[in-house]
Amino acid sequence: MTKIDLWLLAALYFGGIVDATISSNYSQAILSSGTVKLGDWQDAFDRASRFVAKLSTDEKLSIVTGNGASNYSALLGSDSSANPINYYFVTAWPAGLAMSMTWNKDAVYGQGKSLGAEFKGKGMNVAFAPTVQPLGRSPWGGRSGESYGPDSYLSGIMAGRLASGMAASGVTPSAKHYVLNEQETNRQGSNVGGGMGGGAGEHAGGPPGMQRRNAGNSTSPSSGEAYSVEVGDKAFHETYLAPFYDAVKAGVGGAMCSMQKINGSYGCENQDTLARYLKVELGFPGYVHPDAGAQHTSFDSANAGLDYGSSSYWNNSTLVVGIANGTFSAARLDDMVIRQLMGHFKHKQEVYPDHVGYTDNVDVRGKHGDLARQYAAESLVLLKNTASALPLRSKKAISIFGAHAAPRLMGPNTALTVMSGVGATMDGHMSQNGGSAMSSAAFLVTPFQAFNERAQADGFMLKWWLNNTVVKSSGGGMQISDGSGTEISETTLGIADGAEACVVFLNAWAGEGGDRSELANAESDRLVNYVADNCNNTIVVVNTVGPRLLDQWATHDNVTGILYGGPLGQSSGHAINDVLFGDVNPSGRLVHTIAKNESDYDQNTQISEDSVISFSEGNYIDYKYFDQKNSTPRYEFGFGLSYTAFKYGSKIDIAPDSQLLSNEFATGNLAVGGREDLWDIVAEVNIDVSNVGKVAGAEVAQLYVEFPASANEPIRQLRGFHKVEIEPGKTEKAQFQLRRRDLSVWNVEKQEWQVVRGDYKFIVGSSSRDLKASSILTI
Ligand SMILES: *[C@@H]1O[C@H](CO)[C@@H](O)[C@H](O)[C@H]1NC(C)=O
Ligand SMILES: *[C@@H]1O[C@H](CO)[C@@H](O)[C@H](O)[C@H]1NC(C)=O
Ligand SMILES: *[C@@H]1O[C@H](CO)[C@@H](O)[C@H](O)[C@H]1NC(C)=O
Ligand SMILES: *[C@@H]1O[C@H](CO)[C@@H](O)[C@H](O)[C@H]1NC(C)=O
Ligand SMILES: *[C@@H]1O[C@H](CO)[C@@H](O)[C@H](O)[C@H]1NC(C)=O
Ligand SMILES: *[C@@H]1O[C@H](CO)[C@@H](O)[C@H](O)[C@H]1NC(C)=O
Ligand SMILES: *[C@@H]1O[C@H](CO)[C@@H](O)[C@H](O)[C@H]1NC(C)=O
Ligand SMILES: *[C@@H]1O[C@H](CO)[C@@H](O)[C@H](O)[C@H]1NC(C)=O
Ligand SMILES: *[C@@H]1O[C@H](CO)[C@@H](O)[C@H](O)[C@H]1NC(C)=O
Ligand SMILES: *[C@@H]1O[C@H](CO)[C@@H](O)[C@H](O)[C@H]1NC(C)=O
Ligand SMILES: *[C@@H]1O[C@H](CO)[C@@H](O)[C@H](O)[C@H]1NC(C)=O
Repeated sequence: MTKIDLWLLAALYFGGIVDATISSNYSQAILSSGTVKLGDWQDAFDRASRFVAKLSTDEKLSIVTGNGASNYSALLGSDSSANPINYYFVTAWPAGLAMSMTWNKDAVYGQGKSLGAEFKGKGMNVAFAPTVQPLGRSPWGGRSGESYGPDSYLSGIMAGRLASGMAASGVTPSAKHYVLNEQETNRQGSNVGGGMGGGAGEHAGGPPGMQRRNAGNSTSPSSGEAYSVEVGDKAFHETYLAPFYDAVKAGVGGAMCSMQKINGSYGCENQDTLARYLKVELGFPGYVHPDAGAQHTSFDSANAGLDYGSSSYWNNSTLVVGIANGTFSAARLDDMVIRQLMGHFKHKQEVYPDHVGYTDNVDVRGKHGDLARQYAAESLVLLKNTASALPLRSKKAISIFGAHAAPRLMGPNTALTVMSGVGATMDGHMSQNGGSAMSSAAFLVTPFQAFNERAQADGFMLKWWLNNTVVKSSGGGMQISDGSGTEISETTLGIADGAEACVVFLNAWAGEGGDRSELANAESDRLVNYVADNCNNTIVVVNTVGPRLLDQWATHDNVTGILYGGPLGQSSGHAINDVLFGDVNPSGRLVHTIAKNESDYDQNTQISEDSVISFSEGNYIDYKYFDQKNSTPRYEFGFGLSYTAFKYGSKIDIAPDSQLLSNEFATGNLAVGGREDLWDIVAEVNIDVSNVGKVAGAEVAQLYVEFPASANEPIRQLRGFHKVEIEPGKTEKAQFQLRRRDLSVWNVEKQEWQVVRGDYKFIVGSSSRDLKASSILTI
């Protein structure tokens, strides 16, 4: 049966039967089919249905192409999870990657709630956040700085918390990019018809003036075809769909379909991914809208499940004629409108702030600046700290090095452009991703500013070298300085002279539209080594948009400290200094693996210019790949130090719910977020953690699960984490609640989530390799 026939069937069908099996019957994806239990979206559905019943076809067409009708005004949506893009007087938040590195669910929720309020304050109905994917399958991917790291469990939890927070603020969150958009190169074919941003109308997706050009490689235009991803059904469900389950359950009312192809058809016209998986299996109740230029057809997109599109594809001569001649259906058109209105009614947006212009004097920041600084500091990961180099205490003289310490000459904000061909480092302090997650910072506190404030307050002598280039001779004139006073020799070494600590700053930069050409930077690394060769207390601060290799100097004896973070937003410099000087005890943990060598990463995940990209590594990305290969990274997933020390109890308590676990397969009703029983808590696990150091601190206890061999899973997988604040000398419980889905694997034959029978090893660790205690549960 063709997809068109299936929607025709849907047109005939308008009942309330709940069909519990997910089949290729795509009529189930129509909300009014009753296939999916709507729960707390039911009221929104009822109201949207009553509203749509009064509209003419012309009005419905108007709504699905991004305009208003009757008393519904055009939907306004905009990027990103970093800030409402392009607006004055908003908070420039830490990016998704940094937020994930906090391992603090409450922080991510807190950001969502405050950021959501900023979108709402500007009159935006929909925020294009969270960025669930790219996950970061490839360390070379250019856009992983926006999302929550390559572990699908962590990514799902964090995306869900951001979405919940945003929804609580009254804005409709929209998850992107659905799905499998793991590299930027050739993500889009050259056939870029249709609208920009959301794909329709002036108000539709991005703000007017959003410039996008063909992604991939500006110097060599793509062949005209976007790449197509192929991935096995098991990994598709377990690694790539899994975090979207969390986002849907948490209340996203939108989903942005991605530019590239899946199994040969574009992300915005793939009936499997949109109708079958997203709308039925995950029970997504909202509307699907296209990434910029991601709609390519009239009927294929509408029939596959795109709900919002461009009038250059959807108009009287296409969709309306299609309803008359049977190529399209009136029921599907109603469904498109209803889906768009779900968020409107759920969040009571009938009464909503007026939309304001970019520069209008509407300040929506409240006290969010304090949170942005607090979260940024909490996200920083202390990777190395020898001879108690950190925190910096009672120093007489400190020198700082690197262009990343100080502002970029033209400020932190950039033009909205895709990032292909852009340098791999930012020449100045890097605090945000590029592309549509670019910063709208009203100000930026750089390390240079923060160090000057600190020098003023603490009284130390500060010297700086704001350049990545090592300069060994000051040239010209005769040097008469004896180096003992403030008179400097104007060389890199001259600046290091007399310093009790040398802090070197470096960044790695990328963003939407372009991938990374390097994972380390020769010039920055040369600077670190040169400083370290001459300064026995060299501390390196790295801000990066993805995995950044450190082996060029990480084991250098004089590199006594390494602080590693994502893009930290407007208070970056303060946040870094809060940790360097010990006002904040570091508690961030890595969300990706830092290899010893670029060649240690899975070469199958290299950026590819092939027209078909096979994710043949399946579930084995990031630490799961390193574990499988028994390859030792420099710093593993989950790793991070503290200024205090923690000790784990030797015993793990596991309290399984045998009743719930007796069902091998998920059998619950299809509901928003998938089968209802996938969310049942089937086991609770806890362990004691003590702070045996001298200062208060937070430990991130991590629960890894080894599945029975027959489940055919990676060696160990994160299935819980708990960030516990512990006073010195005290012991607290780290607790983990496992949902049925956390112990389930996708059974390809049965097309269902299954809790395989056998022995499960529960392991608690302080990283994916520093494992402290374990216990077996037999199911
Ligand atoms: C599709 O599902 C609907 C509702 O569950 C049902 O009425 C219809 O008969 C099904 N069609 C096919 C071809 O299975
Ligand atoms: C339009 O107004 C009517 C009457 O107040 C209300 O029932 C309906 O929900 C409104 N429609 C929208 C889209 O807000
Ligand atoms: C792609 O096609 C293959 C082969 O038909 C199928 O097994 C797989 O589930 C499809 N993937 C998606 C995401 O639809
Ligand atoms: C209607 O859509 C068709 C198909 O994309 C397009 O060729 C045509 O120009 C559109 N008409 C208008 C008025 O935009
Ligand atoms: C579509 O057709 C309707 C009814 O004929 C007409 O009122 C409307 O203006 C047309 N829309 C466009 C965009 O041409
Ligand atoms: C119905 O009309 C559309 C738009 O003109 C056209 O593309 C399609 O081929 C027609 N289908 C049939 C079955 O006539
Ligand atoms: C673009 O592609 C060409 C040819 O593959 C390559 O030589 C060039 O380095 C690429 N440029 C960028 C910025 O990726
Ligand atoms: C850094 O120093 C080098 C060598 O003196 C110089 O060529 C370069 O322009 C400097 N960079 C900046 C950003 O000042
Ligand atoms: C460490 O720094 C000191 C200067 O403080 C220098 O003499 C020594 O050679 C350096 N060590 C290494 C391994 O470079
Ligand atoms: C670094 O060298 C100085 C003398 O130049 C010495 O006093 C200090 O103890 C050394 N620090 C470390 C960490 O080795
Ligand atoms: C990485 O490995 C390659 C060979 O596999 C070697 O040439 C290179 O020096 C290594 N790089 C580092 C930083 O160790």
